[in-house]
Amino acid sequence: MNHEILEKNVGLMILFIIIAISFGTLVELVPLMIERQTNEPAEGLEPIAALPLEGRDIYIREGCNNCHSQMVRTLRSDVERFGHYSTANELVYNHPHLWGSKRTGPDLARVGGRYSDDWHRLHFYNPRDVVPESNMPAYPWLFERELSGEHTAAKMEALRAVGVPYTDEDIATAAEKVAGKTEIDALIAYIQQLGLLYPRS
Ligand code: HEC
Repeated sequence: MNHEILEKNVGLMILFIIIAISFGTLVELVPLMIERQTNEPAEGLEPIAALPLEGRDIYIREGCNNCHSQMVRTLRSDVERFGHYSTANELVYNHPHLWGSKRTGPDLARVGGRYSDDWHRLHFYNPRDVVPESNMPAYPWLFERELSGEHTAAKMEALRAVGVPYTDEDIATAAEKVAGKTEIDALIAYIQQLGLLYPRS
């Protein structure tokens, strides 16, 4: 009988739907905000260094995450193909996270160290030179553009403001570590440090 009153009164119905959804949201979100497992950095986790940090911005600019995820799921097929599944505590310094959802190409969460820098150079210059059936775009312009490093320190300061523990020294030396390097150097440095906390066996 009471339920009928609710069903016939749109205002009340909306109110109770909002209460139900809010409760569900809280149950999902609050534990994630306070649980150690999802908030404390994994042992040995370091903030991303200056050069790979610039590489990550190139990764974002070029839209690599439209074709590549960075999230090994706990499914057996994923773990056998890509290595240890991704854990929240190895990603706490990722701002923004680049998990992605589209896998035109393979997942890259654990690609660090899988190939040599030279392999990556060939592959980014023209993927079909090393993987004939590849439909990944070529990125020749990354080989020509030089980085100045003028914004690297500011980027690190912004990340420090949201909790990434860069030291004053990291920030002071950032520009010199990046200046004069090419965009491809930075991108490869980024790729080579992905997922090393749990190396592929
Ligand atoms: C149109 C989709 C597409 C885009 C955009 C793309 N890729 Fe790929 N990528 C692929 C495909 C497909 C493969 C598998 C074939 C190959 O190795 O070339 C691949 C392979 C790779 C591999 C080798 C992975 C492995 O485990 O063998 C790396 C590293 C990689 N891509 C990085 C990048 C980066 C960095 C960017 C952005 C600069 C990028 N990709 C953009 C589709 C894409």
